[in-house]
Amino acid sequence: MTRESWQTRLGFILAAVGSAVGLGNLWRFPWMTSENGGAAFLLVYLGVVLLVGVPGLLAEFVIGRRSGRNPVGALSSLSDSKAWSAFGHVFVVTAIVLLSFYSVVGGWILRYVGASVTGAYFANPGGYFDAVNYGLEAAGFHLLFLGITALIVLRGVKRGIESATKVMMPAIVVLLVALAVWGVTLDGAGEGLTFLLSPDFAALEANFFDILPVAAGQALFTLSLGAGTMLTYASYLGEDRSLAADGTAIAVLNTFVGVLAGVVVFPIMFALVGEVGDGGPGALFVGLASAFASLPYGQLVGTVFFGVVALAALSSSISMLEIPVSFLVDEYGVSRPTATAGLVGVFAVTGSVCALDPGVFDLVASTIVDLLLTGGLVGFLLFAGWVLGRDAVAEYELGAGAFASRFGTPWLYAAGVFIPVFLIFTFVSGLAGALG
Ligand code: PFF
Ligand code: NA
Repeated sequence: MTRESWQTRLGFILAAVGSAVGLGNLWRFPWMTSENGGAAFLLVYLGVVLLVGVPGLLAEFVIGRRSGRNPVGALSSLSDSKAWSAFGHVFVVTAIVLLSFYSVVGGWILRYVGASVTGAYFANPGGYFDAVNYGLEAAGFHLLFLGITALIVLRGVKRGIESATKVMMPAIVVLLVALAVWGVTLDGAGEGLTFLLSPDFAALEANFFDILPVAAGQALFTLSLGAGTMLTYASYLGEDRSLAADGTAIAVLNTFVGVLAGVVVFPIMFALVGEVGDGGPGALFVGLASAFASLPYGQLVGTVFFGVVALAALSSSISMLEIPVSFLVDEYGVSRPTATAGLVGVFAVTGSVCALDPGVFDLVASTIVDLLLTGGLVGFLLFAGWVLGRDAVAEYELGAGAFASRFGTPWLYAAGVFIPVFLIFTFVSGLAGALG
C-alpha cells in the first residue's frame, strides 16, 4: 500500500499549525503567564520560540521527510541502530501520556460549550468547576472528546486531518479576532493588556532563572515539539518545498494565535473579574465563566469562546493520535481503522485515570510532559546533528531558496550542540528550583 501524503502545501501548514495551536495557547499559556509575571514571561517565551522552537521544528521536519516514516521507523531506518530504534518507542509513550491528560481537558471544554449554551455555570462558576473537573462524568466527557478525535484520524491524512484542519483553522482565527475586538472595548480592559504586553524589566531580571524553565517548557508544548508529531506530519511531505519557510510560518502563526488568545483572555479577566487568577489549571475556567456570567450576552460569548477552544483542542489531539497510529500502520502493517480503534481502547483507560485522579492529572500535565518533550526534542536534535550530519543539511536545503540555504550549517551546529546543552541546563535548573 502506498503511504499517504498531503494534498497541498497549505494543507500541511494548516495541519501543523492546527497541531501547534491548542489548549497550550488558550488554556496553558494564560495560566503560565499569570503565574509567572505577565509580559516578562511572554518576552522570555518568545525568545525561546525563536531560538529553540524554530531550529527544533526543523530537526523534526528533516528527520520526518527524509525517512518518510513514523518516529520509530524514522530513527531506526536512518541510523540502523537498535539503540535509536528503542529510543523511538519513547515517542509512542509520549503520545499516550499527552493525549491522556489532554483529552480530559478536552472533555472539560466540551462540557463548558454545553454549559454556556444552557447557562449551567452562571450561578456559581467556582462551584461548577469543582463539581465537574474530576470523576466519572469527567471520564465520560473525556471519552466523547477521544471519540471525536478518533473519527477524524480514522479518515486518514488527506480526508481526515487535512480536510478537518482546513476548515477549523480559519474559523478559530476569525472567531478569536472577533472576541479580541470585543474584549479590548470592555471597561478596564487596558489593565489586562498592560499585564500581557508591558514587561516589568526589574522583575524579569530578578526572576529570570525561575521564568526560563517554565517558558522553555511552554515553548515546546505550544509548538508540539519533542513528541514526534511534527516529524510524523513532515513524513507525509514531498521534497518540493522549503522546510525552513514552512517551519517559520508555523512558528509565527502559532505565536500570533497565542498572543491573540492572551488579548482575548486578559482584558476579559481584568475588566470583569478584576484580576487574573493564579489558582492552577482551573483558573481560566472559573475566571472566564464568572466573566461570561456577568455579561449581557454572556451565554453567546461563552459558547463562542469555548467553541473556539474545542476546535483548537481537537486539531491538536488528532496530531497526538496520529503518532501511534502511523507507528502501527508503518511498522506492523495494521490497517488505519484497526490501529485507531485499538488505541482508543488504550486511551480510554489511561485517560480515565487522569480524569479520576487529580494528583495523577497534575503530575502528568506539568512535570512529566515537560520531561518527555524536553528529552524527546534533545534526542531529535542530537540525531539530526550527529547521525544525519551533512545529510540533514542536504535535506534542509531541498526546496530552500538561496537565503534560507545559508542557515543550514549554523542550524546543524545549533541542533547538535548548543540547543541540547541549553535545554538540559534549563530543565535541570528548573527541576532544582522546583525541588526547592
Ligand atoms: N501544541 C499543542 C497545544 O499547544 O495545545 C499541544 C501538543 C500537541 C503538544 C501535540 C505536543 C504534541 F505532540
Ligand atoms: Na500551541
